[in-house]
Amino acid sequence: MIHMDRNTSPLSPLTKEAITEVINETIIYEYPSDEIDRFKSLYAEHYHINAENLELANGSDEWIQKTVMTLGHNGVMALSPDFVMYQEYAEQAGVSFDTVKCDENFQFDFDIVIAEIKRLRPSLFLLSMPHNPTGQLFREDELSKLAQSMQEVNGYLAVDEAYGEFAPVYKRPEGEHVVIIRTLSKIYGLAGLRVGIAIAEGDTFEKITKINHPYPVNSLSLNLASRIFENKDELEKFTQYQLKSKDSLTEAFKAADGEVSIIDSSTNFIFTYGENARALGQYLWDHGYKPRIYDKAPLNNAVRYSIIRLEDYETLVKLINEWSNQNDSKGKIHKGNKDFNITR
Ligand SMILES: Cc1ncc(COP(=O)(O)O)c(C=O)c1O
Repeated sequence: MIHMDRNTSPLSPLTKEAITEVINETIIYEYPSDEIDRFKSLYAEHYHINAENLELANGSDEWIQKTVMTLGHNGVMALSPDFVMYQEYAEQAGVSFDTVKCDENFQFDFDIVIAEIKRLRPSLFLLSMPHNPTGQLFREDELSKLAQSMQEVNGYLAVDEAYGEFAPVYKRPEGEHVVIIRTLSKIYGLAGLRVGIAIAEGDTFEKITKINHPYPVNSLSLNLASRIFENKDELEKFTQYQLKSKDSLTEAFKAADGEVSIIDSSTNFIFTYGENARALGQYLWDHGYKPRIYDKAPLNNAVRYSIIRLEDYETLVKLINEWSNQNDSKGKIHKGNKDFNITR
């Protein structure tokens, strides 16, 4: 089975030999103090940020949880749908969780979002940008309005950039009311190492890190992560592979345009919806490509597919074409206007 349901990289950024070398160099009888400093400084240099504003945890999941625990006391708000764990962590922390729903094309009206913030005055708004599950990138003015309205209610906006490296550069909101959450699980291909990054300023940095353990990530994960950031040429090749795979994914699904609706994606996955989306998802699953098929509203007619190895696209394209042709010949499906069916 080829997995398209996990939003992770289809390959490892490190060879077995490189992993063995790092294992041999790793000191396991000491706490990982130098290892943390080394990784932070490599990451900070890569993104041109100050290492003092960033902290690490076991995956960005842990940062979402910690942000909820430290900033979410007066309630957490999010879009619906968004990353499923936002609600889980709010429930774990026993704080209220409110959402603002999308329209029938999975688009959000930020004027409604802001009106809801004014009404409910949550202390934390969690937003994935680019957005999971739809893959869309919100506009800079929407993001800036959102950040401003959270500041006005003395709350915080946490921007979860798990898929940020797949998106074009955008102007992110700044200030002590903003927390940026990132991960090495997506474009960097290290989901198994569990390395998540939070970036914040001043008092907010103090607040979100005050419940930290002394050594939040183990030496081996840190050394493996440092290894990929040390070799810029290899890293560039690896990230280019992911981006190329994303282009192939987009191209592959063009054959289904008009039969399923597809949202333009700035991530490593694409999101399809509409009355035929599940049928296509099931067909591909039956033929060895497992997508993420959702059950619950508003996602009950939606299917999400993440990137795969480049050599696996040929069969995928064949299958999508086969499915499209079968449906056309059965006359079951009305091909719609493409422009209408593709939303941003
Ligand atoms: C939007 C979003 N945030 C966070 C995560 C969690 O990533 P991590 O592996 O860093 O915990 C995911 C994982 O799929 C995600 O989609």
